[in-house]
Amino acid sequence: METRAGDPGAFAQFDLNRVPSPAFVVDAAAVRRNLAILKDVRDRSGIKLLAALKAFSMWSLGPTIAAYLDGVCASGLYEARLGREEYSGADGAGEVATYCAGYKAEDLPEICALSDHIIFNSPGQHARFRPIFNAAHAQGHRFDVGLRINPLHAEGEVSKYDPCQPHSRLGFPVDQLRPEHLDGVDGIHFHSLCEQDFVPLARTWAALEPSLKGHFGRLKWLNFGGGHHITRADYQREDLIAFLRQVKAASGLELYLEPGEAVALDAGILVGEILDVIDNGMPVAITDISATCHMPDVIEAPYRPAMLHEVPGGPVVRLGGPSCLAGDIIGDFALPVPPEPGQRIAFLDQAHYSMVKTNTFNGVPLPAIWLWDSETDDLREVRRFDYADFRNRLS
Ligand SMILES: Cc1ncc(COP(=O)(O)O)c(C=O)c1O
Repeated sequence: METRAGDPGAFAQFDLNRVPSPAFVVDAAAVRRNLAILKDVRDRSGIKLLAALKAFSMWSLGPTIAAYLDGVCASGLYEARLGREEYSGADGAGEVATYCAGYKAEDLPEICALSDHIIFNSPGQHARFRPIFNAAHAQGHRFDVGLRINPLHAEGEVSKYDPCQPHSRLGFPVDQLRPEHLDGVDGIHFHSLCEQDFVPLARTWAALEPSLKGHFGRLKWLNFGGGHHITRADYQREDLIAFLRQVKAASGLELYLEPGEAVALDAGILVGEILDVIDNGMPVAITDISATCHMPDVIEAPYRPAMLHEVPGGPVVRLGGPSCLAGDIIGDFALPVPPEPGQRIAFLDQAHYSMVKTNTFNGVPLPAIWLWDSETDDLREVRRFDYADFRNRLS
């Protein structure tokens, strides 16, 4: 995969020696800039906009996100709880919309207490858990029920990230949807995009609307999921706003978007240090950043992250982590100066989907989390991890 982000923004001027290594550094001003764009889309289209915690759950920024958006979407009990505790905003009004491909009965009473929307992946799960809902309602909990449908319209460039791939487990196939599946259902959800422009959304809706419009009268809302790269400079925001206004007017329904990546796009870097340099047919540098532990999408997607201050066309060095995994390779990069132990490096656009996926394989330490504000130059450590964090995940 090609990364379409990677603008260094204010990080072009950031001194990498101001933080320990490894460390994520998130620029609060860049997050605010993204949030202002999302809020503008929300306000001008008259929709509700939620931040997807799965992409970016740096909860120290929860109050900031709550000040701009309507709430968060969660992938299960833990994210729902984090959303309620940290993202509810000063007035406590922040919404929590929870969707999970498969709920466990024992989690649902708490999810009912925490969530404004509970979205099911199949009518079967919804039907099975009705007694739990009825009990939650009897206790005074108020929430809407949603059903995720699969539009059966693939727009994904990579099948791993395409919820409409053949035999996908994500969403109830729209060609099986019958009116009785919507008994007790307040809203329809679909999510089928990944880092995409407006046009794939428009095409998806054009394919889907004929199957859904007969049901609009019994629904309260439609949720168009995430995968909208709204804060990227060349995203077609005016087209999106016009489209949302039109769908809202035609359907008479409340509309939701729940982007994740767009909240933190180009807003954070991962700082590392070169530990050793060897030659094995090419220069190879071992760093304290591990692809498998700290940037697993580099291997999983796979993709090549953009590097701060890379000099395109220069001689390349292979950079990899300290773990035993032969494939713990970040990529081949042209450094601005020849690699030396102690030298700092940084990878761009690491705030989303890296911080939430870190692990301690091989006992590799987790990167610290630092918050910088490029407008004021305030820099503070938000969280440091140590041996106890590694040990406490095991027994
Ligand atoms: C249901 C759902 N909503 C929202 C998102 C957020 O997507 P993104 O971070 O690409 O905007 C995802 C991502 O996988 C998702 O599965």
